[in-house]
Amino acid sequence: MTPDLMEEGARRLSRTMAPEQGKTESGGREAGFSRIAVPGEVDVTHGRILYLEDVHRSFDGFKAINGLSLDIAPGELRCIIGPNGAGKTTMMDIITGKTRPDKGTVFFGSTIDLLRHNEPEIAQLGIGRKFQKPTVFEQLTVFENLELALKTDKRVKPSMLHRLDSAQSDRLAEILHTIHLADSVRRMSGNLSHGQKQWLEIGMLLMQDPKLLLLDEPVAGMTDEETARTAELFLTLKGKHSLMVVEHDMSFIRTISEIVTVLCDGAVLAQGTLDEVQADERVIEVYLGR
Ligand SMILES: Nc1ncnc2c1ncn2[C@@H]1O[C@H](COP(=O)(O)OP(=O)(O)OP(=O)(O)O)[C@@H](O)[C@H]1O
Ligand SMILES: [Mg+2]
Repeated sequence: MTPDLMEEGARRLSRTMAPEQGKTESGGREAGFSRIAVPGEVDVTHGRILYLEDVHRSFDGFKAINGLSLDIAPGELRCIIGPNGAGKTTMMDIITGKTRPDKGTVFFGSTIDLLRHNEPEIAQLGIGRKFQKPTVFEQLTVFENLELALKTDKRVKPSMLHRLDSAQSDRLAEILHTIHLADSVRRMSGNLSHGQKQWLEIGMLLMQDPKLLLLDEPVAGMTDEETARTAELFLTLKGKHSLMVVEHDMSFIRTISEIVTVLCDGAVLAQGTLDEVQADERVIEVYLGR
């Protein structure tokens, strides 16, 4: 969660409770709430919203990312799979500015060099990130969480802070519907199921209209029904946003995927439809065969 959202949430919570109670399950962990700092579109004339080339990152000599190259088209829903330790989360850390690569190229569209930006700036450019654990304000209602996400959007003028205008209210209503929480708008977020909290956090990201959404193991811990509804949700988001989804759940991947990229040892091992990569001997050996 970004510092400004934490601050705004803390202010809100401090009016109603002791600060300790406001902590989410994952405390102060960071999440990228996307905002667009500068008006204007990301340049996707070359057909890519995200472009990584020959990216490297070592930790104490261990090559976590080792010559990683991949690109994503605007509106694409790209699935990333790969064994534990393949470098999937580290790749997201690099895209969002949490981790710096030792070398390589990371571009958002064809003009924005992400390596020249820090984590909050990257969020403001329109890259939203969802970590595995839900990070919603449990002591606020569903509505208040969504409202809060909007109010930390730097595009929203301070004069609008006290009240949502009608376009914002419409947007909030639309997102509530998209995330299947229209019937739970006044519920305390802490009382939601795990899956509903995950949807709420995705809704909070959507309030800021990200161009690219990075989702790390979004269905881990969900029931089968929640997983099916999340698949539906992602298919709705595809086209309007670009999505990069890291998941181990293969039946979920099968439902949502077009192109699947297999990461292994910090680089792309294979890419294609799920059937294609599952038939690839190298993939079977390093990943699916385990
Ligand atoms: N900050 C760090 N310091 C040291 N090692 C790290 C750091 N971040 C990642 N690593 C190492 O880099 C490798 C890749 O980790 P990463 O978390 O990216 O894998 P992953 O593909 O997301 O795995 P999983 O499917 O288990 O989530 C691992 O061996 C991990 O221990
Ligand atoms: Mg990971």
